[in-house]
Amino acid sequence: MSKDLNDSLNQAIAREIAVSIQYMWQHVMGEGIESPGVLEVFKKIAIVEMKHAEAIAERLDFLGGIPTTKPDDIKIGGSLQKMIKDDIMAEKDAIKLYRDIIALANKETDIVTRKLFEDILVDEEGHLAEFQTLLGKK
Ligand SMILES: [Fe+2]
Ligand SMILES: [Fe+2]
Repeated sequence: MSKDLNDSLNQAIAREIAVSIQYMWQHVMGEGIESPGVLEVFKKIAIVEMKHAEAIAERLDFLGGIPTTKPDDIKIGGSLQKMIKDDIMAEKDAIKLYRDIIALANKETDIVTRKLFEDILVDEEGHLAEFQTLLGKK
């Protein structure tokens, strides 16, 4: 594994941990909000993000790297609209980063890492679509 791929996988882990906390806390702190369906979406996606963090950490460990424990910036609070906008930004960032990782893994003929991120990318595009639907904007 190159240093670039090592660093990129750790970047991915840092953001997966961050969004996992971000979405779960939006679920918890949004308890007063009038849309229980939205709160369930936060929780459901938070759990998927934690699974992503675990899968990427497993892969990095297998490749001889040390998975980070430090999350990226976590954005919490504000109106429901603001929260969802923050989440849309987070998903767009993930999609961009994971496309780069897929290209890098491919260059290094690390097919398993490429496949892992192809699968995760499908989830992230789904999350983006779900948040955009919540906001009523495509
Ligand atoms: Fe994720
Ligand atoms: Fe996501």
